[in-house]
Amino acid sequence: MTADVLITGANGQLGWELQRRATASSRTARAFTRTDLNITDADSVARTIEAASPKVVVNTAAYTAVDKAETEPAAAFAVNRDGPANLATTCAELNIPLIHISTDYVFDGTKPDAYSEEDAVAPLGVYGESKLAGENAIRASDAEHVILRTAWVYGVHGHNFVKTMLRLGEKQDALRIVGDQHGCPSFAGDLADTILKISDRMRSGDVPANGHGTFHCTGEGSTTWCDFARTIFELAGPTTGRVPTVDGITTAEYPTPARRPANSVLDCGKLTRTYGITLRPWQEALAEMLQFTLSEDTGAAKEMR
Ligand SMILES: NC(=O)c1ccc[n+]([C@@H]2O[C@H](COP(=O)([O-])OP(=O)(O)OC[C@H]3O[C@@H](n4cnc5c(N)ncnc54)[C@H](OP(=O)(O)O)[C@@H]3O)[C@@H](O)[C@H]2O)c1
Repeated sequence: MTADVLITGANGQLGWELQRRATASSRTARAFTRTDLNITDADSVARTIEAASPKVVVNTAAYTAVDKAETEPAAAFAVNRDGPANLATTCAELNIPLIHISTDYVFDGTKPDAYSEEDAVAPLGVYGESKLAGENAIRASDAEHVILRTAWVYGVHGHNFVKTMLRLGEKQDALRIVGDQHGCPSFAGDLADTILKISDRMRSGDVPANGHGTFHCTGEGSTTWCDFARTIFELAGPTTGRVPTVDGITTAEYPTPARRPANSVLDCGKLTRTYGITLRPWQEALAEMLQFTLSEDTGAAKEMR
């Protein structure tokens, strides 16, 4: 049976939300985990997409271990460059639109204000380089495509900064968190809703003028990791009974294998102007995610324990 959307990386934060929200709505979805469909395998990609014959392909699969990528560049490039290239080749052959997810880490963070889609890219690490190579492979293909660059993703399923903070906050009364990197927290659920709206336009052949190409897509507003952590504890405190203090430290005081941009705030105005889509303020989305995650009844709460 033809599916409305084929989803790769279905066990990831975003892939999981996408599958959940697609099937909870009137759309039909075929979702593939890495075990079901390894996007680095060109033959498997071609066979699977041909058999499923979806109206739109959404690629959420990625090598996302930013620090580990520094010592595993071949693995990062295989998934983040060759995977999207395989998907784009098959989508072009079968005339199926492709939505692909990319990252704020294509920028070097030296711009004093928000990055637009027109700004020059200059990744600081292997992860960003490999994601940029994936974008370029799609652009070089004949596939009809939309590339959404997002940032600082967290969801109820999978690993992320919010869950790490909650876990650390259970045991520690004071935390030291980097306070000189600026970015835009983005809730996987809101990203999934956005992707589904765009996929609806693509599958019905109703893409707006200039609706193809690259778009920035994050939660509205920006913050630092340190203030993000403080907000997590403020919002979670009434439920957890734990509000640890958070002190800001510099990037230099918390060295990591991969360099990260000091500013990766994305200007999402093009998405609003073109598709009429604006994600809600990141604090609102965070409150919803925390309510779900901390609720005793949810699978997410069990996953945390
Ligand atoms: N997380 C962030 O903060 C962030 C920020 C900016 C942009 N993004 C982008 O947003 C997208 C979604 O990220 P996410 O946070 O949902 O990532 P995630 O939770 O790490 O999920 C990625 C998924 O891709 C799967 N995968 C890895 N290699 C694969 C392969 N060769 N074939 C098929 N699947 C494979 C993983 O499988 P396993 O479950 O088996 O490992 C995992 O389920 C990615 O494109 C990412 O680059 C993320």
